[in-house]
Amino acid sequence: MSAFYREKVLSVHHWTDTLFSFRATRDTGFRFQNGQFAMIGLEVDGRPLLRAYSMASANHEEELEFFSIKVHDGPLTSKLQKIREGDIILVGRKATGTLITDNLIPGKRLMLLSTGTGLAPFASLIKDPEVYDRYDSIVLVHGCRQVSELAYGEELVAKLRDDELFGPMLSEKLLYYPTVTREPFRNRGRITDLITSNQLFADLHQGPLDIETDRIMMCGSPAMLEELKQLFETRGFAEGSGNKPGHFVIEKAFVER
Ligand code: A2P
Repeated sequence: MSAFYREKVLSVHHWTDTLFSFRATRDTGFRFQNGQFAMIGLEVDGRPLLRAYSMASANHEEELEFFSIKVHDGPLTSKLQKIREGDIILVGRKATGTLITDNLIPGKRLMLLSTGTGLAPFASLIKDPEVYDRYDSIVLVHGCRQVSELAYGEELVAKLRDDELFGPMLSEKLLYYPTVTREPFRNRGRITDLITSNQLFADLHQGPLDIETDRIMMCGSPAMLEELKQLFETRGFAEGSGNKPGHFVIEKAFVER
């Protein structure tokens, strides 16, 4: 048995010069928990070329979706960005990852903090009805340099708000906070600064950070993750894992250089 599923690309959407998403068929045997990642890629010169990608689709969906950067000379993404409907991608059989609700101590407010394509695992999680059962509110923060980079997230949330099943859950519980650092926008600034200054909570009309009720997942640039980890640890929050649930969990978004 091959280590990979060979899946067919169903659609590709280019959001900006540096971001695209695509949907592919999903083998019925491919199981994952929302928030997890798998190794995916292409066969290049007869060999698999793979990188870790979070599933942006939820596990109840029939198709798979991924959200990716494009790097001009990136070994995989320089090729992956050229895929078209009907092409074949490889998907590793085993999904894994720490951004799952079981790795968190029960809480009331779930904060999903992301930059760039770090949004992907949260795109999956906000389509999980169980997440809405477990938490009173879900705060989805997406930080980017430019407004155009928010488009995938904006459309995702807008579609879910219009959805018959998810619409009511979202309107009651999901707070979406896109923020931009390098051009004008209604929300400005780095996620780290927005939390330390309490601006994020003020803008959302929410109470400040509270270790008793807040649980956090973060995915994005390594520099941001390092700073956030320190910020939360200074306030007594502990990192969770599969062995020991905690107040926060971390995953690096894939960056190809
Ligand atoms: P900034 O524009 O101030 O660098 P990148 O494209 O470099 O991965 O960055 C994505 C977003 O993450 C940008 O808005 C960037 O802000 C922000 N960012 C980068 N490093 C950090 C950090 N150490 N802490 C918080 N946000 C960061």
